[in-house]
Amino acid sequence: MAEIRRITIFYFSGTGNSKGVASWFCEFAVKKDIQCQLIDISKIDDSVFDIIDSNTLIGIISPVHGFSFPKITLDFIRNFPKGKNRIILMNTRGGMKIGNHVTQGLTGIAFMLSSFILVQKGYKIIGQIPFDMPSNWISIHPALNEKTVLFLHKKNYERVKKHSDKILSGKKDFAAYRNIIQDILISPISLAYYFAGRFFFAKSYYASNDCNNCGLCIKQCPVKAIEDTGNRPFWTFKCESCMKCMSICPKKAIETTHGLWLVAGILCSTIVSALLYKVALVNIDSALFKIALFSFIYIILIGIAYKIQHFLLKYKLIGKLISYTSLTHYKFWGRYKSVRDDKWK
Ligand SMILES: Cc1cc2nc3c(=O)[nH]c(=O)nc-3n(C[C@H](O)[C@H](O)[C@H](O)COP(=O)(O)O)c2cc1C
Ligand code: SF4
Ligand code: SF4
Repeated sequence: MAEIRRITIFYFSGTGNSKGVASWFCEFAVKKDIQCQLIDISKIDDSVFDIIDSNTLIGIISPVHGFSFPKITLDFIRNFPKGKNRIILMNTRGGMKIGNHVTQGLTGIAFMLSSFILVQKGYKIIGQIPFDMPSNWISIHPALNEKTVLFLHKKNYERVKKHSDKILSGKKDFAAYRNIIQDILISPISLAYYFAGRFFFAKSYYASNDCNNCGLCIKQCPVKAIEDTGNRPFWTFKCESCMKCMSICPKKAIETTHGLWLVAGILCSTIVSALLYKVALVNIDSALFKIALFSFIYIILIGIAYKIQHFLLKYKLIGKLISYTSLTHYKFWGRYKSVRDDKWK
């Protein structure tokens, strides 16, 4: 394989894990006298592609969301111009620590789908490498403790060194193939998450009574998913659940509505089930069509419920009640943000 002299790494990152891995990769490249450039996918326009020549090795890294890449990463890959460059695909998944071992997250279809799109455009995939950084999905589990977070950063730093050595010396590295069976098995869930599930999660965030309307979350959201409604932020369906807003809010006011979410979820699915199976669709046999219609109406109802919730949040008492039923409201739950290198190196 031709010698690598330049590498450009495109990254998307909600809470800093993927950005961290991208910058470590660059660090090891620079030590080998290879030029390295880091570019944030959420801040680019099409002119960025003009600066990449055909000899540059391209890296793409993003977190895995719902066993696939998030929409912003997939859109970026879909809009990538045609080319013949070598590409290395990387991801960060949700890892945990058991004893001295790092448990693995699940990549699902993230690599398969993006490789397929890029190969159609003429690119040559030379690697697919997952990194198991701390899970940042604070909506569904409490933040990992500091010791675990530091441990996972150190372990992944060593792994980035190992894999970057291999790639930058001109070899291929398909470490992801080790998990291929489980990735294929999980693929139906990744599609369900992409087409329906993520909309449900997008409406699980709200700003509690602690919000002082500083606007930071609105400004920093990588996909401009939060609207300023004058009193407190409003999460739209564009939200990708990247967790950035939750991790940066200076008042820790962004919460997941666990209690209300459960009630709204059960209520909405009961209404849709009654509508579909008893009233409207008695004669329709296609299960796929029924699921699609169910999801569509369900998402509309969730959207309406969210608007009502946002309106009611004007009343402090309602805000308090919602907060009390949110696990994210309590101190033990915590927030997650990738730690700076100087804290553990
Ligand atoms: C909405 C959401 C979905 C996630 N889905 C997965 C998943 O399917 N598989 C996995 O291994 N990790 C999953 N995670 C964990 C993240 O991929 C992981 O913590 C990642 O390193 C975060 O990277 P970032 O800090 O660059 O955003 C998910 C996290 C979130 C917030
Ligand atoms: S960052 Fe926090 S305090 Fe500021 S507007 Fe957003 S939710 Fe409110
Ligand atoms: S609203 Fe928050 S969680 Fe959703 S995409 Fe924006 S920063 Fe990420």
